[in-house]
Amino acid sequence: MDRDLIRAFMKATRHENMAPSAQQRGAPMPPAFAALGSETGRVALPPPADLDLALLDFPALLARRASRRRFTEAPLDGGQLSFLLWATQGRRGAGDRLALRTVPSAGARHAFETLLDVRRVDGLEAGLYQYEPMSHALLVLAAEPDLAGRVTRACYDQACVAGAAAVFLWAAVPERMTWRYGERGYRYLHLDAGHVCQNLYLACEALGLGTCAVAAFDDGALDAALGLDGEEAFALYLAPVGRL
Ligand SMILES: Cc1cc2nc3c(=O)[nH]c(=O)nc-3n(C[C@H](O)[C@H](O)[C@H](O)COP(=O)(O)O)c2cc1C
Repeated sequence: MDRDLIRAFMKATRHENMAPSAQQRGAPMPPAFAALGSETGRVALPPPADLDLALLDFPALLARRASRRRFTEAPLDGGQLSFLLWATQGRRGAGDRLALRTVPSAGARHAFETLLDVRRVDGLEAGLYQYEPMSHALLVLAAEPDLAGRVTRACYDQACVAGAAAVFLWAAVPERMTWRYGERGYRYLHLDAGHVCQNLYLACEALGLGTCAVAAFDDGALDAALGLDGEEAFALYLAPVGRL
């Protein structure tokens, strides 16, 4: 292990070592949303409130949460997908300036975009989608041929990815975070990602679906499959979802 590299990063990103951030230097705030590909259409999602989850026993849900890696061939339905998207990156409240979400984020920077590699979801063509939290809709993005195969191979053919009905892929847009926190913002991106994926675990458990956090992937191959440049936007974390 390269301890010097780790020491250098941790030292350089200590709070007291940070240079003034772009925000402190007066740079304009980056936009809160960035389309990560060419939009070829838009799909409205059913309101997440349509699912009746009021009777859930929360301690039992926590006790049951687990990584699930084997899924059936059955498709997800649109309501389930809608709920999972809302639970992971959905809007909370109606404020215009500070768009708060169902997950916390350092400085409410919310520096992720959610991409979906949809394979089997009722009412949706297989392909690449991006969640647009403000209107709770999906953008249809032009996808590379064999998107699902490329995503699976980029994850070293892990069975949970190969068998998923849909794969949630969280792409970081680091400028949104570093504008306020400079290089230290790279720490926060990784912290924020954990909250998002944990909400996916709990939301899946609530719906009787399965998911598994996945961080073992070939960064370059995954970014290329998703059409990301690897710097302005890059895949940070992903999770396959399927029926059990
Ligand atoms: C950051 C992170 C990365 C992970 N990456 C993978 C992965 O690439 N493949 C996988 O099968 N599981 C992965 N997991 C799931 C863990 O293996 C799992 O959480 C752990 O074995 C504990 O099991 P549990 O989630 O059922 O409690 C990851 C979990 C985390 C939090």
